[in-house]
Amino acid sequence: MPKINRREFLILSAASAVTASIANWAIAQSNKTLAASSKLYKSTNGLLELNLEASDRPVPIAGIQAYLMSYNGQVPAPRLEAKAGDTVRIHFTNNLSQPTNLHYHGLHVPPTGNGDNPFLSIEPGESLTYEFTIPKNHPSGIFWYHPHHHHYVAEQLFAGLAGLFIVRGELDEIPEIQAAREEFLVLKDFDLDKSGHILPQNHMAMMLGREGQLLTVNGQVNPKFTIAKGGLLRLRILNASPSRFYRLSLENHPFYLIATDGVAIAAPVRLEELLLAPGERAELLVRGEKELGQYRLLTLPYDRGGMGMMGGGMGMMGGHRMGGGMGMMGNSSQTSPQVLATLTYHSAVATLPLPERLIPVETLPEPETVRRFELSMAMGSGMGMGAGMGMGFTFNGQTFDPERVDTQVKLNTVEDWELINVDPDRMDHPFHLHINRFQVISRNGQPEPYRAWKDTVLVRGGETVRIRIPFRDFAGKTVYHCHILDHEDLGMMGIVSIQA
Ligand code: C2O
Ligand code: CU
Ligand code: CU
Repeated sequence: MPKINRREFLILSAASAVTASIANWAIAQSNKTLAASSKLYKSTNGLLELNLEASDRPVPIAGIQAYLMSYNGQVPAPRLEAKAGDTVRIHFTNNLSQPTNLHYHGLHVPPTGNGDNPFLSIEPGESLTYEFTIPKNHPSGIFWYHPHHHHYVAEQLFAGLAGLFIVRGELDEIPEIQAAREEFLVLKDFDLDKSGHILPQNHMAMMLGREGQLLTVNGQVNPKFTIAKGGLLRLRILNASPSRFYRLSLENHPFYLIATDGVAIAAPVRLEELLLAPGERAELLVRGEKELGQYRLLTLPYDRGGMGMMGGGMGMMGGHRMGGGMGMMGNSSQTSPQVLATLTYHSAVATLPLPERLIPVETLPEPETVRRFELSMAMGSGMGMGAGMGMGFTFNGQTFDPERVDTQVKLNTVEDWELINVDPDRMDHPFHLHINRFQVISRNGQPEPYRAWKDTVLVRGGETVRIRIPFRDFAGKTVYHCHILDHEDLGMMGIVSIQA
């Protein structure tokens, strides 16, 4: 067993006790491994083709049958794998009782037609075939798919609609990475009653961004994963929760970051912990360099702001968060570490080295245009929110309007966007842009320590983050939004039109 000190032990025990009282059925250490029951679809001869059906039905999760929304009856959804240059053809059917569509988060593909088009609406009972080609020079990495129908995104994602979309390529071919054992981790929280029904979410839960107390990895509670003594583990992690942040730490083990939002960085970066906001992905290497034993993958407490909303201003709950049901207390309620999964050592192998170099990250040219975006929750009349409280989540003071183009850019130019979080409640807002990746240049004027590609970046309360975006290859309209998906559904989304 790894050594943990008494204080850590008490903290962890307390965390377990709290969780157990909330959901007894969910806390037992599962004997399940990380390998999800989800099906894998791989491209062959340059084509990834499959049928995908969204439906409401009972799905096994965390040892019970839960009434969720799923793709092909699986939570997480089937994992899709393709290569640069492949064609993707998905015959999609909506058997939900509400409209939906599909978004391919992080892929650099056309935003128009039946490509990665968030403006499509597929009504209940309707079908649509999505088809697009992944460019030949597309980087390898972790991407994902989920619904993107405005006003329904948070609800549908929370109910279970999300899956990995892996692009295989150059990162997978580095010998040290090939030698590592690959594990996928889809992090997703649920808010269920004892009979497995999703609890209704009240308005406050939506303002904060809905969270559930049941934490799963690939639909399992505390699954096991293994590492060989001397071996290397490659963890490919997606935060598929609509609002929950994960501050990951593995007992006694540092992480070696090799990719951000699915795309490789130039060389591994050693980290003691990693914060993943909703929508973000990361790839980590772990070395099997400790004593044989069990080590817990934890999510540590993180405060994503918004407490002011609960205080005098709105006179609600006296500072305690209230969510849908189950006494959900929202994001700041996690005051102690919680266990996500357990790593176990097994037999020794010859010690594997870490890679020294990964994939170079290009230096972008200076921007032609610099824009400012103020991110904020805005209160007052005229927001047109219909949310009952006159509250909206905004970019530059405006909530989403599907008829309005907010930002016009020219194809084949590079822009800097300054993202300024002026939220009065100092809530964190993770900013996400579709279709085109970007690099973070600075935070509050401080340059980033290493260059990396991102498509989702956390902008903390009070913070200014400058990103540099090359608009390449595809003209058309697409969106940027807060990836706390309730905020997106409450208006924190804008349209960018890329003109040839
Ligand atoms: Cu994962 Cu528009 O989002
Ligand atoms: Cu996206
Ligand atoms: Cu937000």
